[in-house]
Amino acid sequence: FWNTANFYHTEKTLYNSLIVVRSNLIPSPPTYNSKYGYINWEAYSNITYFTRILPPVPDDCPTPMGTKGKMTLPDAQIIAEKLLLRKKFIPSPQGTNLMFAFFAQHFTHQFFKTHGRLGRGFTKALGHGVDLGHVYGDTLENQHKLRLFKDGKMKYQIVNGEMYPPLVASAPVNMTYPRDIPMNQRLATGQEVFGLLPGLLTYATLWLREHNRVCDILKEEHPTWNDEQLFQTTRLILIGETIKIIIEDYVQHLSGYFLKLKFDPEMLFGVQFQYRNRIAVEFNQLYHWHPLMPDSFIIKGDEYEYSSFLFNTSILMDYGVETLVEAFSIQPAGRIGGGHNINSKILHVAVGVIRESRLLRLQPFNEYRKRFGLRPYESFQELTVGEEEMAAELENLYGDIDAMEFYPALLLEKPYPGNIFGESMVEMGAPFSLKGLLGNPICSPEYWKPSTFGGKTGFDIINTASLSKLVCLNVKKCSYVGFSVPEGIRKCNKLKPPEKK
Ligand SMILES: *[C@@H]1O[C@H](CO)[C@@H](O)[C@H](O)[C@H]1NC(C)=O
Ligand SMILES: *[C@@H]1O[C@H](CO)[C@@H](O)[C@H](O)[C@H]1NC(C)=O
Ligand SMILES: *[C@@H]1O[C@H](CO)[C@@H](O)[C@H](O)[C@H]1NC(C)=O
Repeated sequence: FWNTANFYHTEKTLYNSLIVVRSNLIPSPPTYNSKYGYINWEAYSNITYFTRILPPVPDDCPTPMGTKGKMTLPDAQIIAEKLLLRKKFIPSPQGTNLMFAFFAQHFTHQFFKTHGRLGRGFTKALGHGVDLGHVYGDTLENQHKLRLFKDGKMKYQIVNGEMYPPLVASAPVNMTYPRDIPMNQRLATGQEVFGLLPGLLTYATLWLREHNRVCDILKEEHPTWNDEQLFQTTRLILIGETIKIIIEDYVQHLSGYFLKLKFDPEMLFGVQFQYRNRIAVEFNQLYHWHPLMPDSFIIKGDEYEYSSFLFNTSILMDYGVETLVEAFSIQPAGRIGGGHNINSKILHVAVGVIRESRLLRLQPFNEYRKRFGLRPYESFQELTVGEEEMAAELENLYGDIDAMEFYPALLLEKPYPGNIFGESMVEMGAPFSLKGLLGNPICSPEYWKPSTFGGKTGFDIINTASLSKLVCLNVKKCSYVGFSVPEGIRKCNKLKPPEKK
């Protein structure tokens, strides 16, 4: 898509129609969900469900995948161990780094919030898109617990002269921490799981600082505005900044540099397009990019194993945001597609994804290929190109390419040359992303004007936002920040083994 777009990027209308054609692959209004394989009012109106692009495989089908394949599917654990487990770290050929990996995780966890307690196929993120619920909380109640109620700002604490998320003690939202984490190390964020990784807390801190920074700017422009209006308008500005950064830094990184991507909602004005979005189960399945994660985390020459990195909130303040951003920007992330690249510590996540897809009765990968306008694969060899051992293993496990499952296929498909993943991840991922980003209400003609964002100053903040500004305007000293490892360092990384800690 991005290659094609390159040809036409001066032709606004063609570019538009590419985006619209892409987005139109996503039904809007949404259709099915995991309970209903036919169109009905409950499936449309009950937003506690993720939607679905294809209905579930009916319960009375002869095989688990419909009509093709074996009577029982291969053990998910065995699939993961034989085909997904990392042997040796394979870096992203695009130079993708951990700054990207943590951005991906931080960003997507505002709309991927599986609500296990209600059953499979439910979500806690009722905004179904880029609402910044991961910054502001996913309910009004949580938002109020996180707000300072002064000048529009969010609660914070000052440590070593810098702003950090508040403790749970002062912003009493429900966060997920293991029992042995002391109260004075439990930070509160809009997303309950963000205590898990210092990389997520780094972004939570940056967006918190950004929110409070923008509040100051707006207050200066509008001295008479009350707390509520400052808060609400700042939130819209940060939503705009997020979409801008996702398109112009993040998707730009993924798509290579053939084309300069631009976030310009006006491109779609006058075109038939629905400004709404509903997150799909398939998008959630597809976005489990755990091969990105390294074998250990290296900060200023110190190496952290998973056991000392996960839930270690003191890393955030011990090193500070600058140091962490620099560390994450120079450490390579793994290649997502092509198989054999998930660290053993997190392999269970992939197993969980496969198991969930079975409970949800997801249709075969080839059915999704067709649904997204792609030719179905005719053999496992065609899927994995050149990986004969892998193809033979899949043949043995599944028996029939038309019974191949969605998620393992996305991870095992041959990556494009020099690319982080292959055709299906791009062709299926892009429509969901474009729809989710440009279908945001702030992109609609009714919203997309300076007054929505408090005037020209706020509008300009959105239109000039970037990853490096997000960091550099919110730290004291700004060094390299980006979504790819700088070329010089890529070479050195290969030479120098880090110190053990
Ligand atoms: C949505 O569906 C679930 C499961 O059937 C149900 O528990 C919940 O009450 C429904 N929500 C609404 C708003 O109807
Ligand atoms: C928060 O956690 C407490 C204690 O575990 C629980 O009683 C309460 O229902 C939770 N609140 C929400 C909104 O999940
Ligand atoms: C957490 O990180 C700090 C450095 O910030 C380190 O000194 C400490 O050992 C780590 N904690 C654990 C439990 O590994």
